[in-house]
Amino acid sequence: MMTWHILGAGSLGCLWAARLATQKHRVQLILRDNAALARYQATQGIGLSDAQRQHTTYYPIAAQLASDAQPIEYLLLACKAYDAQTAVSQVAQRLTTNSVVILLQNGLGSQQAIQTMLPQVRCLAASSTEGAYLAEPFHSVFAGIGHTVLGDLQPNAQAAPANLIETLNTAHIPCSWTNQIAQDLWRKLAINCVINPLTVIYNCNNGALSAYPEQVNTLCAELQQLLHAAGQPTTASDLTERVWHVINSTAANSSSMRQDVHKQRRSEISFITGFACAQSLALECPTPALHALHQQLQNMLHAHGLPTT
Ligand SMILES: NC(=O)c1ccc[n+]([C@@H]2O[C@H](COP(=O)([O-])OP(=O)(O)OC[C@H]3O[C@@H](n4cnc5c(N)ncnc54)[C@H](OP(=O)(O)O)[C@@H]3O)[C@@H](O)[C@H]2O)c1
Repeated sequence: MMTWHILGAGSLGCLWAARLATQKHRVQLILRDNAALARYQATQGIGLSDAQRQHTTYYPIAAQLASDAQPIEYLLLACKAYDAQTAVSQVAQRLTTNSVVILLQNGLGSQQAIQTMLPQVRCLAASSTEGAYLAEPFHSVFAGIGHTVLGDLQPNAQAAPANLIETLNTAHIPCSWTNQIAQDLWRKLAINCVINPLTVIYNCNNGALSAYPEQVNTLCAELQQLLHAAGQPTTASDLTERVWHVINSTAANSSSMRQDVHKQRRSEISFITGFACAQSLALECPTPALHALHQQLQNMLHAHGLPTT
């Protein structure tokens, strides 16, 4: 049995917590403050429903604050990218050289910042296509079956931590190990850099982007240059095809960023187009259409009264 601490009891944190608890692992939620702890203790525990919300199971998982003294063996960081550094710093003193930290954040930037903060700790990044949303606080709805790829942030080609992949798959968290997680993260980032902002700007589902082929292709061409400059030539080679594949195969979906805007929630823009624009400057690889898109997206977020970072 493993001991897991889950920092961030949102959609994915609750989903992982419930599935690990089913396999009798020792699971502890780390909640933000005493008020969140009191709200959680007034519930029946973590709720998990199927996509149709026909069945809900409640899991009476223990919860604590970051200030608890218990050392952390496995930490699942399940907050948004913009909260990730602060959240990790609150438990940093509980991590040891034997700890493993799994970072579920979308985009790029937060993972590297955390590995830099914790040079002695093994940090794994995850790229996940699973889908979940909260029906109410501490109650997750498992909306879409997906797959999670995990790998070391430091490119030292180690094997996966013992039993990790088996344990997660047994807990019905479909996942696999890669020695090239940076490639997965960059690929998802580049696809998100095209689809997410355009779906916000045109307020449309993914499929409707087929009406803007020139804009999509121009952005893909710039991102291909950026991927080359960032040492990701494999990802660059088929980016345009992959972007069009996602547009067509998820035609009816609303992107995560568009959903954030509709729900008046802060987006992860700084870790998507923001990160790509910063890289284009740092690598001296001009991406004018991407910069213009990022600016347009910021204007749009501002107009909705939402943070622009
Ligand atoms: N949901 C999905 O389907 C999905 C799929 C793939 C990837 N992702 C990525 O996974 C990450 C998590 O997404 P999510 O949808 O699960 O987010 P979420 O529902 O917003 O949950 C994040 C949780 O983290 C908590 N949190 C933030 N800072 C904290 C702190 N310092 N201490 C304790 N708790 C803290 C938040 O608490 P408050 O409510 O108090 O802020 C919230 O409960 C994101 O980067 C997202 O892009 C999500």
